[in-house]
Amino acid sequence: MKRPIGIFDSGIGGLTVLKEILNAMPGEDTIYLGDTARVPYGTKSAETVTRYSFENAKFLLKFDIKLLVVACNTASAYCLPQLKEELSIPVIGVIEPGAKKAVEVTKAKRIGIIGTEGTIRSGAYFDAIKTIDQSIAVFTQPCPLFVPLAEEGWTNNQIARMTAHAYLNDIKKQWIDALILGCTHYPLLKSIISDVMGNTVTLIDSGHETAAEVAKCLMEKNLLKTISSGESFHRFFVTDSPERFRQVGSRFMGTRLNNVELVNLED
Ligand code: DGL
Repeated sequence: MKRPIGIFDSGIGGLTVLKEILNAMPGEDTIYLGDTARVPYGTKSAETVTRYSFENAKFLLKFDIKLLVVACNTASAYCLPQLKEELSIPVIGVIEPGAKKAVEVTKAKRIGIIGTEGTIRSGAYFDAIKTIDQSIAVFTQPCPLFVPLAEEGWTNNQIARMTAHAYLNDIKKQWIDALILGCTHYPLLKSIISDVMGNTVTLIDSGHETAAEVAKCLMEKNLLKTISSGESFHRFFVTDSPERFRQVGSRFMGTRLNNVELVNLED
């Protein structure tokens, strides 16, 4: 099937999810939209994030996408059910796959969640975990400074380490054995987060789990791209500064990004 997968995020961070999707399904065609003019979503209200998310989805639908991935945790937390209801294609967010994996992994039945202020405030991960297993204890901590640290490339220096300690010290005392990285940027800080939390805590990368969910959904619906459909393409759209996206995004993806185009969602 020669229709692309559509992915949107508030900006650059969703590239960590795209990377996982391409690792799982290297041949798929993708269209990525980063709403870089309006980032961050993590500090905005549910109403605003929902409005932006619908505008993003509407843009991607113009490309006849076969499935929509909401890579942004904050957007998934605030409006995944509405998007699922309104759109006629499958829509997959990052919350449920991450929550499901954490429930599978925890033996202590104690799970930690870190994310943006909005994601934590929404209670979406908390609800997703409790829906699966009511008896699991859940502890949360917003870590907003991890986002600029990841974009700055400060993922393994003294400042990142001190920030991680300051955010994670309390949650560490709760004897959790699984910690959900509930934000697109946090996989870049995995090594420092893991150092601080210690080796008894499994880190759950929501993007990685989401990619597995996307593959499963495409397979079930017989929507996977067939080998005979030719070479794959990857297009990137941003609502501000393609140059910055290219620069920072190449670090997030681990490959050089071409095909970054500026778009005005109001057109
Ligand atoms: N993409 C956002 C998320 O995963 C992080 C950046 C933002 O606040 O917009 O929640």
